Amino acid sequence: MPDTFENYIGGRWTGAASQATFDNRNPADPDDRIGDFPDSAPADVDAAVQAAQDAFSDWGSTPAPDRGKILKASGDLLAERKDEIARSMTREMGKPFFETKGDVQEAIDTAYYAASETRRLFGTTVPSELPDKMNMAIRRPLGVCGIITAWNFPVAVPSWKIFPALAAGNTIVFKPSEDAPHSGLRFVQTLIDAGIPDGVINVVHGADEAGQALVEHPEVDAIGFTGSYEVGTAIAETCGRLNTPVSLEMGGKNPMIVMDDADLDLALEGAIWGAYGTTGQRCTATSRLICHESVHDELVAMIRDEAEALVLGDGNDADTDVGPLINQAAAETVHQYVEIGQEEGATLEMGGAPASVDGLDGHFYEPTLFTDVTPDMTIAQEEIFGPVLATFEVGSYDEAVTVANDTQYGLSSSIYTQDVNKSFRAMRDLEAGITYVNGPTIGAEAHMPFGGVKDTGNGQRDGGYAAFEFWTEHKTLYVDYSGQLQKAQMDSVED
Ligand code: UN1
Repeated sequence: MPDTFENYIGGRWTGAASQATFDNRNPADPDDRIGDFPDSAPADVDAAVQAAQDAFSDWGSTPAPDRGKILKASGDLLAERKDEIARSMTREMGKPFFETKGDVQEAIDTAYYAASETRRLFGTTVPSELPDKMNMAIRRPLGVCGIITAWNFPVAVPSWKIFPALAAGNTIVFKPSEDAPHSGLRFVQTLIDAGIPDGVINVVHGADEAGQALVEHPEVDAIGFTGSYEVGTAIAETCGRLNTPVSLEMGGKNPMIVMDDADLDLALEGAIWGAYGTTGQRCTATSRLICHESVHDELVAMIRDEAEALVLGDGNDADTDVGPLINQAAAETVHQYVEIGQEEGATLEMGGAPASVDGLDGHFYEPTLFTDVTPDMTIAQEEIFGPVLATFEVGSYDEAVTVANDTQYGLSSSIYTQDVNKSFRAMRDLEAGITYVNGPTIGAEAHMPFGGVKDTGNGQRDGGYAAFEFWTEHKTLYVDYSGQLQKAQMDSVED
């Protein structure tokens, strides 16, 4: 009997006002129903925003280190429940248990990082241009923040936004992905058990209607979003109209350059993990392999051998290397891209078909490798979000960088080389928010800025102190203790 789950609004569990629900299934085994979740509508979002608004004044004026204690306790609970949350996350969204443990660990790291930041939250103090006057800028919370996230990192990515937003004194309405609502709830439960006051965090489940109502709500003061380029751009348009600050983290088409002097064994490991880890369903996935012609054939052969040995299956089986795609629609999309790749003249070296796994009816897809890809092809440009690696052959560093930068996206990038000069050039030349040297395009750490340039984002960052730049605003304070009217720009300058 599947469970029934609810929204969490103002400290109370409640269904959607309409009683509508949607169901959630294990992508490795769609007969396994995880449960029913409220399919929320604008009325539910409205109640959650109201609760968040009511809670804001107390939470925003709570001493920041006291807020930090609750975040720290939430991190401790995530650590205590790490295996349990990871097991249920694997059941819900498919990636193997060793990966879901990493997902939870990323949230633990973020909790501890954000908690520690509550004892800093630095503003600035600078000298005044006038005598007997003091200038400071302090950080203030924004108010009610709407958080909309994807299913592929259903604990880590919400934590990147929610922990710093809470640390800064904001209150939250969180809409987890409809493909991973249970993991979102498990995460929020640690905050509830850690003693977060009622209304400070609210959860509204649902799909587009709930998300749209949150973005369009006039009392929402900021939106944080991770997801597709199409949805993110639509959100940005609405936020532009409503003058709501928005932080967007959207797609990627992340290149890995392998130069002629690269350590090929290392590059092989990186390519396999970057392209096929998480079944390619990461915004940072390595989806383009740009190989120097002198190592291309050898590396392609090595990847084939290694990838053909990857074990597909239920991520909760210890042998599984690669889990399923998230749902049937994703499996169809990935397969369409494979067909388009062949039609446009790329060579299908390996994979390219749905895979069957004994005893399971899940959305499995073979690790897929294309060669002879050119930058004008669709599979060279569009984010596939599946286990598909497109390989390009290039003759020089300059050509590699030109191919790498020939994309609308700019999230992550990487170069494998032993040449210190080339590696520094790549750090300068690759148009991306993140560049790895001798590592694949995945593997961001919680205390570092995370986000991309070009169509991947809008200049904001998750991660580290950079996240606080978004979730706070400056308040500038001037204290004149001269006992006289002093006029800036006039009294301070000799004519
Ligand atoms: C994402 O896919 O939205 O660096 C985030 C990485 C992970 C985060 C991916 N830590 O690949």
